[in-house]
Amino acid sequence: MFFDTHAHLDDRAFDEDRDKLIMSFRDVGVTRVLNASSDMESSLETAKLCKKYDFIYGAVGIHPEAADRFEDGDLESLAGLTKEKNIVAIGETGLDYYYDDIPKDVQKKVFKAQAALAYELRLPLIVHDREAHRDCFDILKEFPGIRSVYHCFSGSVEYALELIKLGFYMSFGGAVTFKNARHAPEVIARIPKERIMLETDCPYMAPVPFRGKRNHPGYIPHIAAKVAEIWGVTPERVGEITTANAKEFFNIQ
Ligand code: NI
Repeated sequence: MFFDTHAHLDDRAFDEDRDKLIMSFRDVGVTRVLNASSDMESSLETAKLCKKYDFIYGAVGIHPEAADRFEDGDLESLAGLTKEKNIVAIGETGLDYYYDDIPKDVQKKVFKAQAALAYELRLPLIVHDREAHRDCFDILKEFPGIRSVYHCFSGSVEYALELIKLGFYMSFGGAVTFKNARHAPEVIARIPKERIMLETDCPYMAPVPFRGKRNHPGYIPHIAAKVAEIWGVTPERVGEITTANAKEFFNIQ
């Protein structure tokens, strides 16, 4: 069985067939999904999904691309949402310097506030780091002992090992199946297996052979197959290991 630790099932891409699709994940062995939020509205939708489905867990938070819409009171609202059923983390949050439409100082302020919230509430944090390695690292270091997962990790082995030392986890998605995947396969081979989780980041980043199409948690077995190839174990074993890691990280019984 598999655990998709980073999906966006509240995305508009699923409006037509959300419930039907969600009910199909178990047919391919995907028995748990964590929905990551992207802004306040998405955090409310995540809480609704968690209420409706026992096997859906949620993270509430504000993505760096929505950082300019952060308002006074949002942190309190997020803290309130963490009391809802199956909400187990803060995120996704972080820094994204790929596009420069949101000033770095605004992104940093909103990321730091959410890291502080996760730290205070002793909840894990889902981190989005795109071309912002140094700043992300510096902010997280201000919260010693914080539990973080770098989602869709694309950094080097050296960077991964630095993060492992801080106790962090890494999750990998469809990009590991791409022909031009650079660092990810090497990182998966080199870091401890107990720090690795699987994700789709759907509706984006569909694995081969669905690349370019709408992604969804039912495609997790294709990502597991690639990790299995790298580790030299069966996909079922990858499912067992990564599900155990996710349950430990998100503190799920
Ligand atoms: Ni995401």
